[in-house]
Amino acid sequence: MQDRKIWIDVFRNIVHHFDGYRKMDKRKHFEITKRKLLPSTDELKPWLPRLLDIDGETFRASFNRSPFFIKHNLAGHRLFSLHRLIELASRLPEEKVKYNGAHISVATGLYGGPRTGLSIRETIRRIEECRSWMVINNVELDPEYRLLMDRCLDEVQVFSEAIDPGMCRREGYIFISSPHSVTPFHMDPEYNFLLQVRGEK
Ligand SMILES: [Fe+2]
Repeated sequence: MQDRKIWIDVFRNIVHHFDGYRKMDKRKHFEITKRKLLPSTDELKPWLPRLLDIDGETFRASFNRSPFFIKHNLAGHRLFSLHRLIELASRLPEEKVKYNGAHISVATGLYGGPRTGLSIRETIRRIEECRSWMVINNVELDPEYRLLMDRCLDEVQVFSEAIDPGMCRREGYIFISSPHSVTPFHMDPEYNFLLQVRGEK
């Protein structure tokens, strides 16, 4: 149980308009621009509980340059229970759910691991012992998960907009994997925030 890995991988790409700045008053915007300092999400969205805990200075120094840590408050969120993930995987189009055996080489092509013979439902239900790796792609197609993803990315955008304006093509991916599973080597071209919800990576 302790080793079980479930994480949401939130990709951040673009932008046209974003809630963070739209909802900011002009005085706040002026202060931020003038000081060239990044605000805390506390200041910008006091009416919503924060989902992420981003350090502005770290973000400014590292975004799009080097990996850095952010904290989140998603552990225990109802949308990440196995029951809800089974429901999500069942609702989305079948091609959005990829899964295979998890004990593979890093040189295996992405999604190229052996079939397990299990169904999507069985794989998630038995994830602790079925030696599997699964990704649910484009969870933003589901309204509830889209809402959660947008709240996370709105918080990111508060910080990213000053550095690289125009967040666009928001997408969310949820990975569910058994202990000691391997993800094949690959590269992700998008801005990418990994939020480990359970277990360890
Ligand atoms: Fe990746």
